[in-house]
Amino acid sequence: MPSTVYILAIESSCDDTAAAVIRNDEVLANIVANQDVHKAYGGVVPELASRSHQKNIVPVVEQALKVAGIDKGQLNAVACTIGPGLLGSLLVGTSFAKSLSQVLGVPFIGVHHMQGHIMSHFIQEPGNRIEVPQYPYLCLTVSGGHTQLLEVSAPLETKLLGETIDDAAGEAFDKGAKLMGLDYPGGPLVDKLAKEGDPHRFDFAKPAVPDLQFSFSGLKTSFLYFLQKEKQKNERFIEENLNDLCASYQRVIVEILMDKVAKAIKQTGLKGLAVAGGVSANSALRSAVEAYGKTHDIPVFTPPLKYATDNAAMIAITAYHQYLKEDFGSLDQRALARMPME
Ligand code: KG4
Ligand code: ZN
Repeated sequence: MPSTVYILAIESSCDDTAAAVIRNDEVLANIVANQDVHKAYGGVVPELASRSHQKNIVPVVEQALKVAGIDKGQLNAVACTIGPGLLGSLLVGTSFAKSLSQVLGVPFIGVHHMQGHIMSHFIQEPGNRIEVPQYPYLCLTVSGGHTQLLEVSAPLETKLLGETIDDAAGEAFDKGAKLMGLDYPGGPLVDKLAKEGDPHRFDFAKPAVPDLQFSFSGLKTSFLYFLQKEKQKNERFIEENLNDLCASYQRVIVEILMDKVAKAIKQTGLKGLAVAGGVSANSALRSAVEAYGKTHDIPVFTPPLKYATDNAAMIAITAYHQYLKEDFGSLDQRALARMPME
């Protein structure tokens, strides 16, 4: 095993084409090309996403290598998100990564996207090392497709404690935003507008789901009926109350998440809390997590914003840990739209 490991990682599971280069656990380059093409459609159009990945992948990888200041001949492995995600998008990344690994004669490493989010707290930067979670700890992963509570006992070792039975937290943000006429993806916009609003102005139904499960579809329906009722009285209700609506809707989502986090900590006795995934960029959730850490005197971890939403640095750090375990993929490993976490 070489003492210095260079890995190129690619993330193309949804609508961002991303590439990163890592030297052991330190990120040397982290490039993301966002796809604006979907805005006009109010959601990600899979066929357009695949085409954009195909257009972006070579320049994004070239830029990552350039920023990292290394030649592709120095790479010890090429990694890529293998699933879950949009199949056509995943195929662009996996085909590219497998081919490059073959050409260079180095291992290919297939990474689970959600494992990547979980590992985002372990990404280091040269000359600026940060404190990382101590094992075991509780991780709340909240993205556009997942909402899970996991016990993380060692690198890449997780036990699922609970998850959503319907929509994911990110979906709840995006669907609520759509009902208010906001552009896709609505989560970041709700966050922004909520900063000027009153989070206690309105209240919405919270789900009654047992154990450590989550549910968000009832909240969305309650929000829809509320908006319909108010719009019958005042056509301009949404426009006139947008900031308060965003702040209140966001507060309820954050409360649903934090109620279960508190329950999980109580049940498991875990002494650390981390939150990961696109929704961990949400400022109200980040404040709630920080506040929870202070009140309960436990260390809490929220990833830097650039590592919260989809990025390739999280795939690279996960690949580095897989490399250390010699957990290499094979060329017949297929991209999977749905993929359980082992
Ligand atoms: O992890 P991610 O980038 O992609 C997936 O794996 O799905 O998560 C995307 C989700 C979207 O639903 C987006 O609206 C949400 O994360 N999101 C946010 C914020 N930033 C991204 N939701 C609320 N507040 C934010 N600041
Ligand atoms: Zn993600």
